[in-house]
Amino acid sequence: MANLVRFGVSLAKDLLAKFDSVIRDQEYPSRSKAIEDLINRAINEYKFTDDRTIIIGSIDIVYDHHKRELLNKLTDIQHDFQEIILSSQHIHLDHHNCFEIVIVKGEKGKIEKLSALIKSAKGVKHSLLRLASAAE
Ligand code: NI
Repeated sequence: MANLVRFGVSLAKDLLAKFDSVIRDQEYPSRSKAIEDLINRAINEYKFTDDRTIIIGSIDIVYDHHKRELLNKLTDIQHDFQEIILSSQHIHLDHHNCFEIVIVKGEKGKIEKLSALIKSAKGVKHSLLRLASAAE
C-alpha cells in the first residue's frame, strides 16, 4: 500500500481493550487493518446519505400474479426507470405468487423513488430495497 500515514489516537483503556477483543475474534491481522475497514465503512455510509451518489442495489418484490392490472403497473413503472435498471429476474413462486428481483445502478434518490413506487403498488405483498454499495 502506497503513501501510508501514521497518526496517533487517544482512547479510553477499556474501549481499546474491547476493540482489541472484537478484532481478535474477527481475525484481523492488525489494529491498522481493522481501523481501515471502519473508516471505509463510515465513508460508504456517508455516501449513502447523498441522493446523487451512484449506487448498486436490488429490489425484491413478491406479488400476486392473479392481479393482472398489477403486472401491467409493475412493468410500466420499470419502463419509466429503464435507465437505472440493469436486469430483472422473474420466478414463479407458487400458484399465486411471483418473485421478482430488479438489479439497479444509478443515483440513490432515483433508486429510492423506483422502490417506493413498486412498494406502494396495490397487490405487492413484499418489497425490499437493498443498497449494496457505492458504484465508484
Ligand atoms: Ni410468475
